[in-house]
Amino acid sequence: MEKCNVQKADGKLGVLVVGLGAVSTTFMTGVLMARKGLAKPVGSMTQYDKIRVGRGAEKKYLKYDQIVPIASLDDIVFGAWDVYPANAYEAAMNAEVLKEKDIDPVKDELVKIVPMKAAFDKNYAKRLEGDNVKVAKDRWDMTEQIREDIRNFKKENGVSRVVVLWAASTEVYVPVNEAVHYKLADLEAAMKADDKENIAPSMCYAYAALAEGAPFIMGAPNTTVDIPAMWEMAEKTKMPIAGKDFKTGQTLVKSGFAPIIGTRMLGLSGWFSTNILGNRDGLVLDEPANFRTKEVSKLSTLESILVPEEQPDLYTDYYHKVRINYYPPRNDNKEGWDNIDIFGWMGYPMQIKINFLCRDSILAAPLCLDLVLLSDLAARAGRWGTQRFLSFYLKSPQHDYTQNEVPVNHLFQQYVMLKNAIREMGGYEADEEID
Ligand SMILES: NC(=O)c1ccc[n+]([C@@H]2O[C@H](COP(=O)([O-])OP(=O)(O)OC[C@H]3O[C@@H](n4cnc5c(N)ncnc54)[C@H](O)[C@@H]3O)[C@@H](O)[C@H]2O)c1
Repeated sequence: MEKCNVQKADGKLGVLVVGLGAVSTTFMTGVLMARKGLAKPVGSMTQYDKIRVGRGAEKKYLKYDQIVPIASLDDIVFGAWDVYPANAYEAAMNAEVLKEKDIDPVKDELVKIVPMKAAFDKNYAKRLEGDNVKVAKDRWDMTEQIREDIRNFKKENGVSRVVVLWAASTEVYVPVNEAVHYKLADLEAAMKADDKENIAPSMCYAYAALAEGAPFIMGAPNTTVDIPAMWEMAEKTKMPIAGKDFKTGQTLVKSGFAPIIGTRMLGLSGWFSTNILGNRDGLVLDEPANFRTKEVSKLSTLESILVPEEQPDLYTDYYHKVRINYYPPRNDNKEGWDNIDIFGWMGYPMQIKINFLCRDSILAAPLCLDLVLLSDLAARAGRWGTQRFLSFYLKSPQHDYTQNEVPVNHLFQQYVMLKNAIREMGGYEADEEID
């Protein structure tokens, strides 16, 4: 790491997770098990991937932590907020993602992760009934209380840095409102005026995190930090933000598969994606207003990979549909079906079917780890604002839509962006390209 001048990862790293549900307890349990040597963090780029640095005789393949100072799993201290009072052990057992034998060895540590009272508004997730909720005068007061939680957590656990990760339920769709969401001063005024319609609880968490000098990551499709006012806040506080929506199952497949069609100049007439899932996430998404948030996020993937304006013969008017169906018997074991109608030489039609029997939280957990570690790294490297290099992990990557910036959804372009950012922070030439 001789070329790298990123600040060292000294001291403990607090990882405060909003939501103590299936994803976050699978993430926490896996990290605690991995550091006891009882499980492997499979799927995590920061723990496994190797990146080429240098060229010719200088060429080497190094792991991320040999290029940049990434916090060690041993230095992570977890905390959480949730609407339900169950501790991380109980929540992990309730989620039924992991077997008891994979949870029990770290039971003592999980029991100690007791959720702080949530900043919550039932209008944003009607199907949740928990009462572990803050009483707040207005949205500003809600934010102040979260800030106090972060400060207390830091003090009580002796951590030197904190990252806040949203792995809570998807909130109802909040359309971007220029009068409130474009300028930080307007956003703050709306929080003080208790504008419940435009200020989602997630925005209070994000504002509080940034104000306390913590990066904020949005793992759900909520528009929370995807608004110019939050970009301004991130710039003011010099903190990284990333979002939105973990790219785990069907959309991962889509962003990896669509390039096959696009690079071979095959045509697309339709892509129908449907899936069944039965966890609490599925229950919340069964509410149309919450599903709308997810739908917007899931639909955005194809448009920037198979672009009608660039190849009108191939990609004009393709029909793209995404469906999520709540089906309790499957719990966290989601099943996704993709039917892809393509056409080839002289317009002759063909079909591709993909059937992915996945496990939602098993796919999301390594993303949580990487997003947390890489946001902490970015903060120490002095990178603030939207972290485009983290698009690799996200279904609907943040981009500056006020400047008509097009997000990168192509999985392999995103991978290059990720590797180049690591190279750059490590003091190497960021010299790889797929365009
Ligand atoms: N697992 C995946 O593959 C995947 C992929 C993309 C996005 N996501 C998103 O990740 C999030 C978490 O998924 P999950 O399966 O763990 O869901 P989950 O329902 O098991 O857990 C979410 C938890 O968040 C809590 N919560 C809701 N609002 C809160 C608030 N304001 N403050 C604090 N806690 C709150 C709920 O009580 C619940 O315990 C969801 O938004 C989901 O859409 C998951």
